[in-house]
Amino acid sequence: MQKVSLGKFGPEVSVIGLGCMGMSGMYGPSDRAESIATIHAALDAGVTLLDTGDFYGMGHNEMLIGEALKGRDRDQVQLSVKFGALRDAAGVWVGYDGRPKAVRNFLAYTLQRLGVDYIDIYRPARLDPDVPIEDTVGAIADLVKAGYIRHIGLSEVGPETIRRAAAVHPIVDLQIEYSLISRGIEAEILPTCRELGIGITAYGVLSRGLISGHWQKGAAKGGDFRAMSPRFQEGNVEQNLALVEALRRVADAKGVTVAQIAIAWVAAQGDDIVPLVGARRRDRLVEALGSQAVRLDADDLAAIERAVPKDAAAGARYPEAQLAHMDSERHA
Ligand SMILES: NC(=O)c1ccc[n+]([C@@H]2O[C@H](COP(=O)([O-])OP(=O)(O)OC[C@H]3O[C@@H](n4cnc5c(N)ncnc54)[C@H](OP(=O)(O)O)[C@@H]3O)[C@@H](O)[C@H]2O)c1
Repeated sequence: MQKVSLGKFGPEVSVIGLGCMGMSGMYGPSDRAESIATIHAALDAGVTLLDTGDFYGMGHNEMLIGEALKGRDRDQVQLSVKFGALRDAAGVWVGYDGRPKAVRNFLAYTLQRLGVDYIDIYRPARLDPDVPIEDTVGAIADLVKAGYIRHIGLSEVGPETIRRAAAVHPIVDLQIEYSLISRGIEAEILPTCRELGIGITAYGVLSRGLISGHWQKGAAKGGDFRAMSPRFQEGNVEQNLALVEALRRVADAKGVTVAQIAIAWVAAQGDDIVPLVGARRRDRLVEALGSQAVRLDADDLAAIERAVPKDAAAGARYPEAQLAHMDSERHA
């Protein structure tokens, strides 16, 4: 698999990363053995970038990755870890903590759970509205100096926060949702990152499965984020699946799958964009990695955009209450 530098300051990473969130309950139950086999298959295929968050399954995801990495060469992998999201014992999201002492505490637990002595890219999952970003990034910068962290990233923040953070320490990437049906970053956020030499790790490139070509109405059950996500709700999902069928016609004409063309479209938006695919099964991973072979010329890109016009999706990408916490949405 090809490698690319993550932003101007970043490490070399594979051109596709594996997001491990879905392996820890965010999309309903998942199979532990198959999750580990999927991580191994990704590493064997040349994927080097693994993304997680300490709150995915309240530590479960990090322990799973830690187990998968046993016997592997840790230095060949880049671990991208988000911190700061707070949950209660029932798993309910209860806020964010970006205070310096909390950052140090989160990191200590993360290193232990992953079984490693450094993190490649460490990032606050969301902006803590009560803590200046300078303080949070400054605390991570101290941990870079101490050797526990190699690079600093951001997640779901807007231009002003990006600039303030980058003034404190080089930022390698912004992790943010970007797909054919979530194009909010194009107006201000992406140009800001490009100006500052910050890469993008794009998540939700399949809109959490909705535009994968495999989604069926009503498939999300309780405990699955998608059961609460506006785009999957009755009244919206029908319109969104009609877009998928239009995309399928373009994919069929090229002899590729819907998921592959959707991932390839994100990758085609720039060398500074690394799609994170959320496969949690080996068959899905193989399909996703097949997107690397998909070459899209100007006619293909135009056909894709006719099938799925910008802003054609019905429903917001997160429930209202979560959008309210997102610094990135204030500038989308
Ligand atoms: N920074 C943030 O705020 C943030 C937020 C969300 C996620 N992330 C990160 O980004 C990663 C990717 O996000 P995502 O999981 O929402 O991405 P995604 O790739 O848009 O959606 C993944 C889901 O799509 C379905 N799917 C169907 N065909 C697939 C295929 N060929 N390959 C992959 N998935 C396929 C799978 O659902 P089924 O398994 O149910 O079929 C899978 O769980 C996460 O794992 C996480 O690390 C970051």
